[in-house]
Amino acid sequence: MKPLIVANWKMNPATLEEAKNLFDQVKETGAVICPPFVYLSALRANGAQDCFWEEKGAFTGEISAQMLKDLGVEYVILGHSERRKYQKETDEIISKKIKAALGAGLKVILCIDRISQIKKDLQEIENWKLKIENLTVAYEPLFAIGTGKACPPERAEKMKIAVKKFLGPDTPVLYGGSVNSQNAGEYVKDAGFDGLLVGGASLKPVEFIDIIKNVC
Ligand code: PGA
Repeated sequence: MKPLIVANWKMNPATLEEAKNLFDQVKETGAVICPPFVYLSALRANGAQDCFWEEKGAFTGEISAQMLKDLGVEYVILGHSERRKYQKETDEIISKKIKAALGAGLKVILCIDRISQIKKDLQEIENWKLKIENLTVAYEPLFAIGTGKACPPERAEKMKIAVKKFLGPDTPVLYGGSVNSQNAGEYVKDAGFDGLLVGGASLKPVEFIDIIKNVC
């Protein structure tokens, strides 16, 4: 299968004009591009960085999974370590979000940095073993996110094997954390990951396109 490459733009870029410019350069790559919410409709991007667990109502500032689906979004990142840290998202909250996203027909990219999180993050989903065909897991070790210190591929591969042992061999597992065009191949071609979740390097179009060329 073709590797799944996901661009997590985080809270970047600073203006819609820059977002359009960046998007135009990478949109033909087939990657999942996850811009901030406010740029989603202008770009018609296929990925988002979060969603809320309720369908609608008095939840100031929140965006529902249905709203994303309605805009044509296909994938949503949930459980990112920056949301766990800055928004204090717990496994219980993440689990509710996963349930809502899968229920709305979105594909979920669940970020974890340890295996024990998977079970907790799926706690709200009854019979989750039957419902995880739209679930992808991204292994993102905390020390590797945004630090330039990528995880040694052999160590990451052990986590990939453990995730597949837990969720089954068909669950795609991505690697994320300081991915660049130099190391991308080590994760996909050597360690056998099903794709990559790319943060910082996804904001540099030439570098991002090189990552894709090096793994496809
Ligand atoms: P990074 O971020 O590629 O900048 O390390 C990855 C992520 O947080 O998803």
